[in-house]
This record gives sequence, C-alpha cells and structure tokens, in this order.
Amino acid sequence: MYKIIDGKALAAKMRAELKAEVEAFTAETGKEVGLAVVLAGNDPASQVYVRNKIRACGETGIRSHAFYLPADVTQSQIEELVASLAANEDIHGILVQLPLPKGLDAERVLGLIPYEKDVDGFSAENIGNLAMNRKTLVACTPFGVMKMLESESIPLKGKNAVVLGRSNIVGKPMAMLLTNADATVTLCHSKTENLREICARADILVAAIGRAKFVTADMVKEGATVIDVGMNRDENGKLCGDVDYENVKEKAAYITPVPGGVGPMTITMLMHNAFIAAKRSVE
Ligand code: GUN
Repeated sequence: MYKIIDGKALAAKMRAELKAEVEAFTAETGKEVGLAVVLAGNDPASQVYVRNKIRACGETGIRSHAFYLPADVTQSQIEELVASLAANEDIHGILVQLPLPKGLDAERVLGLIPYEKDVDGFSAENIGNLAMNRKTLVACTPFGVMKMLESESIPLKGKNAVVLGRSNIVGKPMAMLLTNADATVTLCHSKTENLREICARADILVAAIGRAKFVTADMVKEGATVIDVGMNRDENGKLCGDVDYENVKEKAAYITPVPGGVGPMTITMLMHNAFIAAKRSVE
C-alpha cells in the first residue's frame, strides 16, 4: 500500500506556523518581512506563479512588493529596478520570475541580487554554500522536497537516491541536499546510459525533467519513495507530472501527486526563505 505525501496539507501547516513566526518577528523588531516580486512580460504560466506567490505572502504575513514590467522593458530598466530593490532596507528578498522576455540577459539581472536577498537560492554564492554544506538560502523546490521527505521521516542515510534532471534550479541543488543528508546520489540526465536500470535501484527517486509521465512502473523499485517535480500537460491537456502516477503508485511506498504535491511546497519555501533573509538582516 502506498502513501500519498500531501504537499498541499504540509504547505498549509507550514504557512500557518510561519505566519506566527513572522508576526513575532514584526512585534519584536517593528519591521515587516518584505519580499519583492518582479514579473516582466505576460507569460501566462509566470503570471499564475506570481499570483500564487503574492497570495502566499498574504497568508504568511509577509509584505509583498510586486513590480509588473512590460514585455518590451529594456535591460537597463529592469537592472535599475533590481539595483534599487537591492539597496532598499525594507526589501529582504528579491524574486525575479523566470524566464525573462526574449532579448533580456537574465544572468546579468540576477547578478544584481545580493546573495543575502537571493530567496530563490540561484546565486553562485548560495549554491557554493550548499555544495559545502553550509547554512544558506536553498533553492525552493529542492528545499520543499527535503521537507516532504522529513515530514514522513523517510530514511536517507546510506540510501540510494536518484535525481532525474540536472537543472541549476532543481536537479543539481536536489542532488547536493540529498548528498548532505548522507544519501548515495546518482544525478541522471538526457545523456545517461542505462537510465531505467539506475532508476530501478533507487530508494528515493526524484523526477525533475519536464517530460509527461516519463517515469513508468518498470523504472521503480518496490517500496521506493517517488517525488514528482514535473508540471506538464498530458495528451488531453490535463496537468500531469513526470511520473506515470496511476501505475507507479502501486509499486511505491510513498508518492507525491501532481497537482497538490511539490508545487505548493515550492512557494512555501520561498516564504520561508524570505523570513530567513529578514531574520539575518537584523542579526
Ligand atoms: N520560474 C519557474 N520556476 C521558478 C522559480 O523557482 N523561481 C523563479 N524566479 N522563476 C521561476
């Protein structure tokens, strides 16, 4: 029998706890936790993500500062905005929603975010700290996955963990977090040989490749924990993950659904990171 790790429920619980902590911080310091959210252009998916992030700020007592820029914003305009947010003491975290419209250099924009305000955990400084197992701002999606594993006390020490996908945002930091938690980690990608066999040995399998229902039951070990980071549309346009959920669930001990799995946790960890950044700013 498999158990669903309910990301929506865990996220709601964590947001309620965070709200109390944020209120206590404000009572103690007289400061609000401030998160700036920058959205350039009108990508529909980005608009939904940003709306959800702003709503989560409201739920957790964090002051959101939203900046909507037109798709034809110039490089220097967006850089000017981010530089001003970097210098603003009321802003503890800066999130620039990706992807930026064509023609803009995202790396240069993100490079203007001081690592102390890098609530996405994308900066070289924060990734380097993570690699060295130092306290740092951790990328929200893999951080949320760790919280989900923790919530069910799933053992990681000495276990085989397989991560599918080597993105800077999910796969690589996920592999580092699992390594720091003493798992034996294999990071797989599009060039990996014997991928199916490697997956079938995983005690913990994290799929983050963006291919609908890629992970099939034959790739999953009996009793494995399967975490689905994917957010795709199936042939009928229905939201689905990277895992063939209906078939894989019969073999898994734990599995995360899409939607209602990792997604709500990602945004919750963004709020968590904004709070950490605010606390550090007064230390
Ligand atoms: N676009 C898709 N996912 C993310 C994310 O986690 N952070 C930002 N900034 N943009 C994204």
